[in-house]
Amino acid sequence: MSVTIAQIQKWKHLKKPIVALTATDYAIAKLLDKAGVDMILVGDSLAMVALGYKNTLPVTLDDMIRHTQAVGRGVDHALLIVDLPFLSYQVSTEEAMRSAGRIFKETDAKGIKLEGGYPEMVETIRRLVQVGIPVMGHVGLTPQSVHRIGYRVQGVTPDTAEEILHQSKALVEAGVFSLLLENIPAELAAKITDLVPIPTIGIGAGKDCDGQILVTHDVLGLSDWQPPFARKYADLQGTITDAVKQYCQDVRNG
Ligand code: KIV
Repeated sequence: MSVTIAQIQKWKHLKKPIVALTATDYAIAKLLDKAGVDMILVGDSLAMVALGYKNTLPVTLDDMIRHTQAVGRGVDHALLIVDLPFLSYQVSTEEAMRSAGRIFKETDAKGIKLEGGYPEMVETIRRLVQVGIPVMGHVGLTPQSVHRIGYRVQGVTPDTAEEILHQSKALVEAGVFSLLLENIPAELAAKITDLVPIPTIGIGAGKDCDGQILVTHDVLGLSDWQPPFARKYADLQGTITDAVKQYCQDVRNG
């Protein structure tokens, strides 16, 4: 049986931690799903970890759909969520609606994630939720704004912390089913988690969120660089390099 949005919302109140990871392809998605991950996000970080770009901005809606279709074929159990990519939802509510429509018509995703909690985005999300689209909010460090805010911790000053808290409340009021809190102080994430009735999923936001997410390539040691908060559970770059070197040697030795 697949994990549902209603279930993870119940888990918040039962204090059952939600385990989330990203996936970009069928093979890894199948392993994550079998290993018991509750939520799989096809994050637009696939721009860097799967497509080799420097940031998330170049990835397209077609890219996200293609990867979500592949991930979806590997997922039986986990709740499948997908990021809408940069400029597929910010220009207008109509465009957001069309982009979301393509996701739900062409993939198995059960929800979408949109970055930002400023008033125009809150209104777009409210409209998406009204037509029946499950939306996850994303506040704090929002990588699609990298050229404006960088990859720094957000919400460090009292004013910026207050703004993130305000955005979180506005997104909840607009109807998001969950909130991703990225790279904010642990105390702020704990405060938001306490205040909102929906599950918070943290990445670099301390241990008190209702769930945790990391980028799978970081967890498995497949990325060239990991953010300081990303714990590495394996060194697949090393394992793969050793295996391929051994193969090269075997072939060259006849
Ligand atoms: O794209 C992504 O990988 C994300 C992370 C914050 C999980 O959104």
